[in-house]
Amino acid sequence: MRIDILTLFPEMVRAVLGESITGRALKNSLYELNTVNIRDFTADKHRRVDDSPYGGGSGMVMEAQPIYDAYVSVYSPDAKVIYLSPQGRPFCQQKARTLSEEKHLILLCGHYEGVDERVLEEIVDEEISLGDFVLTGGEIAACAVCDAVLRLIPGVLGNNASSFEESFEDNLLEYPQYTRPEEVLGRRVPEVLLSGHHKNIERFRREKSLERTFYKRPDLLEKADLTRTDLAFLETLKKNTK
Ligand SMILES: C[S@@+](CC[C@H](N)C(=O)[O-])C[C@H]1O[C@@H](n2cnc3c(N)ncnc32)[C@H](O)[C@@H]1O
Repeated sequence: MRIDILTLFPEMVRAVLGESITGRALKNSLYELNTVNIRDFTADKHRRVDDSPYGGGSGMVMEAQPIYDAYVSVYSPDAKVIYLSPQGRPFCQQKARTLSEEKHLILLCGHYEGVDERVLEEIVDEEISLGDFVLTGGEIAACAVCDAVLRLIPGVLGNNASSFEESFEDNLLEYPQYTRPEEVLGRRVPEVLLSGHHKNIERFRREKSLERTFYKRPDLLEKADLTRTDLAFLETLKKNTK
């Protein structure tokens, strides 16, 4: 996968994605990352990329021309262009999985009051929001989207299976995790996890997963694929909480 990020702050994006798992994947050429400084495409002799809004109002608006030229410089017929915006659809794991199958993503990060609408109309395929709050710029949102997408690309995580067992993958939250030592702060690891009995461990994890989703995110259960045993277990939880 190739990712181009159109931004006024390329170092911000490189600093985040260049670390840890996404950084290692980049070094191992599991994806290509190209940060494009929109300012490099301004026609203004003072390197300005923003101007005051038509119709008045506070703040500055990013001009269409430098963004459009930055986009043209990285365009490919396969490219899907995403504008990070508080007005977009809230990002989710399902969207991360869909995007992980794309060949080429171009992410546009806005700043200030936003971006001249005409360039958005011209180049953007989709708007994605990180949530119902307003950030100062799209860079943090772009990094969050890239991180979630990249870890789904084969080879990026050491163990591919682990990304399928996580929260949201099947509309259930993940079961609790434990590591050595067996006892910490006076709390013991659940005995079943030490038993080596795979079927029991699997059932324990499934029930914990159902229980957590039931208490923390009951809205997810409506979309989850549940077996009869799961439904019976949820019934007992419902009775116990009455
Ligand atoms: C201060 S915001 C502009 C908000 C805009 N005036 C509005 O009310 O919709 C500047 C930039 O930050 C990014 N941004 C802000 N909040 C975001 C969010 N929740 N998700 C994704 N990007 C966001 C967008 O790229 C936006 O162009």
